[in-house]
Amino acid sequence: MNKIAVIGSLNIDLVAVTDISPKMGETVLGKEFNIFPGGKGANQATAAARLGGSVKLFGTVGDDQHGNFLLDQLSINDVGIGDIQKQSEAPTGCAMIEICDAQNRIIVVPGANAKTDEDYLQGKINGLLEAEVILISMEIPMNAIEYIVKELAKYGKKIILNPAPAVPLSEEVISRCTYLLPNEHEAEIIFNGKYDEAEALKKHPNKLLITKGEQGITYFTGHKMENVPAIKVNPVDSTGAGDTFAGAFAFAISERKPLKECIQFAAIAAGLSVEKRGAQSGMPTAAEVQEYCSRVASDD
Ligand code: RIB
Ligand code: NA
Repeated sequence: MNKIAVIGSLNIDLVAVTDISPKMGETVLGKEFNIFPGGKGANQATAAARLGGSVKLFGTVGDDQHGNFLLDQLSINDVGIGDIQKQSEAPTGCAMIEICDAQNRIIVVPGANAKTDEDYLQGKINGLLEAEVILISMEIPMNAIEYIVKELAKYGKKIILNPAPAVPLSEEVISRCTYLLPNEHEAEIIFNGKYDEAEALKKHPNKLLITKGEQGITYFTGHKMENVPAIKVNPVDSTGAGDTFAGAFAFAISERKPLKECIQFAAIAAGLSVEKRGAQSGMPTAAEVQEYCSRVASDD
């Protein structure tokens, strides 16, 4: 099996469900509270592993209860945790999440994720080079991302960057990545405001894949614009849908499927994931994706 390395954050998600979103200075009563495992790195690794990928996660937790909980959850999902660093200088990362009408607002406090720095990644380079596909997200220091993308590109690795949360990216980072998976909002930021969708897509054929929620995924094949539709779902919680897309996409790429098939597969996995609460709880297994495909085929 071709290995997948995921580099990114691990967070404890403190999730409140509410009918009314509070305004500044206002207190409202919510209706449900849960503590879920989260963090874009942990979520993406979990998505890829649930689908059957051989996945290792590279990241940092604090030496605390939340960190232990996150590591346990990753192990249950068969994500390799042997390279995750546990340190006592900062607490495990935390995300305060509000869910209103199946949409979310998130505040992330990186904590220990800030220690997923250049030094740490330098020490893990051999482990990272064992992977064929490396999936990276951005709740870790940007200079660490720039460093590792440069190193991995030298070895011709397939690098997938999910630029979330987005910051402007350098030309070097963009050119060294094999695939970039921003949503529309992130696309505007990574290209530093100087952004025209069609132009950007044409400049980065088969690399820039813009995810648009219900509108599906748009990219340029080199000959034409392509839109892979999203599946129809009953949304409950969209938290982690982008992570499911990224993890499922990395898995399909590691299986060396054609690009369009990888996108279609990831779109189905992401769609199924929003039907359950929590970033990770709705992430489908390969059997669940298969079952969905058979159901749709028999409806036609
Ligand atoms: O993408 C969803 C994730 O963003 C949540 O799990 C939260 O931890 C934040 O990192
Ligand atoms: Na979900």
